[in-house]
Amino acid sequence: MPVINFLLDSEKIEFTCDSGTNLMEAVVEAGIELKAVCGGAGSCGKCQVIVKEGEVNQLAQGSLSPDKLKQGYVLACQTEVIEDVRIEIPPESRLSEHQIFVAEEAEDEELLTEKEIQIAEKIELDPLYKRVDLELDEPTLVNNASDLDRLYTGLNQRHDWPGLTTSLSVMEDLASHLRDNNWQTQVSLALANDNYEVSELNAPDYEQPDYGIAVDIGTTTMVLELINLETGESVATSGLYNKQGRYGDDVIGRINYAKQNDDGLDKLHQAVIDTINELIDDVVNKESIDYADIKTAVFAGNTTMSHLFLGIDPNNIRLEPYIPTVNFIPPLQAEELGIKIKEEGWIHYLPGVSSFVGGDITSGVLATEIGKREEITLFIDIGTNGELVLGNQDWLITCSCSAGPAFEGGGIEYGMRAMSGAIEFFEIDEDTYEIKYSTINARPPIGVCGSGLIKLIATLNEVGIINRSGKFESDFEHERLREREYETEFVLVWEEQAGIDEDIVITENDIKNLLRSKGAIYAGIRMMLQNMSLTEDFIEEVLVAGGFGNYINIDDAKKIGLLPDLPNDKFKFVGNTSLKGAKMSLLSKEKFDQVNEIANKMTYLELSAEDQSQEFMDEFVSAQFIPHTDLSLFPSVT
Ligand code: FES
Repeated sequence: MPVINFLLDSEKIEFTCDSGTNLMEAVVEAGIELKAVCGGAGSCGKCQVIVKEGEVNQLAQGSLSPDKLKQGYVLACQTEVIEDVRIEIPPESRLSEHQIFVAEEAEDEELLTEKEIQIAEKIELDPLYKRVDLELDEPTLVNNASDLDRLYTGLNQRHDWPGLTTSLSVMEDLASHLRDNNWQTQVSLALANDNYEVSELNAPDYEQPDYGIAVDIGTTTMVLELINLETGESVATSGLYNKQGRYGDDVIGRINYAKQNDDGLDKLHQAVIDTINELIDDVVNKESIDYADIKTAVFAGNTTMSHLFLGIDPNNIRLEPYIPTVNFIPPLQAEELGIKIKEEGWIHYLPGVSSFVGGDITSGVLATEIGKREEITLFIDIGTNGELVLGNQDWLITCSCSAGPAFEGGGIEYGMRAMSGAIEFFEIDEDTYEIKYSTINARPPIGVCGSGLIKLIATLNEVGIINRSGKFESDFEHERLREREYETEFVLVWEEQAGIDEDIVITENDIKNLLRSKGAIYAGIRMMLQNMSLTEDFIEEVLVAGGFGNYINIDDAKKIGLLPDLPNDKFKFVGNTSLKGAKMSLLSKEKFDQVNEIANKMTYLELSAEDQSQEFMDEFVSAQFIPHTDLSLFPSVT
């Protein structure tokens, strides 16, 4: 059997596989996270690795340049291993050191806004799993109710618990437990469906805390918080890449993977469960607790993620008329899904509204309380889709504007996520065109992340290198601007300064993709306003959610026409509201009920519907300029 020696910076990993094994599969099995934007279809060119020694079988070479082929570059997804090989994994091909935005980091970086702190303070503790101390009357020949009726009577005397049920394991132990503890007990109640279930009985002096987890299932990254259910305190946080990334970068790529591969759905389902369990392993180890101490869980994520989490075929999500199998997911028990918490622990997934507005957005609306305010608020979550919500206490309208993954580096030649070595800031000298930049973790540059791309477009336009339609100015001449096959490109970093063996460039096509993405988001905002017969001036506050949002410079975003031209003090970064809403729901039954009301209340605007599509297309086309064709919409930046 061939042995693969993987070389990663200073690390070496040895892996044995069968002859004919797909190299991408081997990389994944060896625990290395490799970029795979197209999910192994051979079209994105992001899974490049270098064969240093040994022969491989190349099924396709994609767009690898002759120079790279000479150096031994292959596409891992299009390569079979047939003998012992040494494979170098270059940094630009790896998914590593991503800035997974967790609350702890926010505090470190003083990014936690006043608004976020207020949100945390507003929760009145009434968790979905709680304990009640009871002292029951001892039975007599006259007071002869069954043990379970006696327990229910005791509980209902303390509080009204409609529809109480009890698990079989509790009933099995009930008689001896009550008698052994002299009719005193601590009863643990778990929210199941719409009712509470007697889930555990403990001795009156039992002191071990109960924990719950709140989890944001992002398409790219996942973040988990371990929470003490008695105090509401967040005791540990952990973040990881969603392991589904190896099967495609965005939701459509993953839906396609599930459709096109016999075991695709199983693999995607298992990948998300494995990621969750790894996050649980991490917090359990950090806090030295048992898995069974985690009694319940609340998850929030987009609709594709909810389907893959449940192992349900997501294919109809991408097919007109875009109908998901489920928006409101009934609670399930942990062992049904293989989640490593208490086996009978109840799992809740926050409800979605449509195929492209999921539980992460209803969770965000809950966390930011925009459905409770008098003033009109715009909520923007810029990820791979661009989900938007507009409204107040009387109405909420939402849409998803297919922005694509450009701001996460997708479709941009040297685009990348916010990882070490990503350029996040540019400055271009107006006279000499000398470029200054800064990278994440001050590592040699290997690409440009979303916030860097926004800054770059704004700056290229400002210094007159590109015009308002994103094309290089015809009279601009400089050694950095050069022609290549079918393309014009501008060199951002020369090879000598780069952390990769080539120049880092931005092409006219990249700029077009970025303008498309930002145009889709801005057009979505305009469509929601028009449907409510409003203009930008009615927006009192703009809340920018999501990890990426925290790194956007508002002035640059307005300059390129991504965000509306409103005063800067109207913009607030609200961080990972998906996680915050999940945490609030875990700690408060009232909030948990509210998120269901929010999902019912939100009106989904389908931008591709017949009555909207032409108008959306007009808005979209107008918004693909810097900042827009209608400059009166951006008076402060033009
Ligand atoms: Fe290999 Fe896209 S080319 S994953």
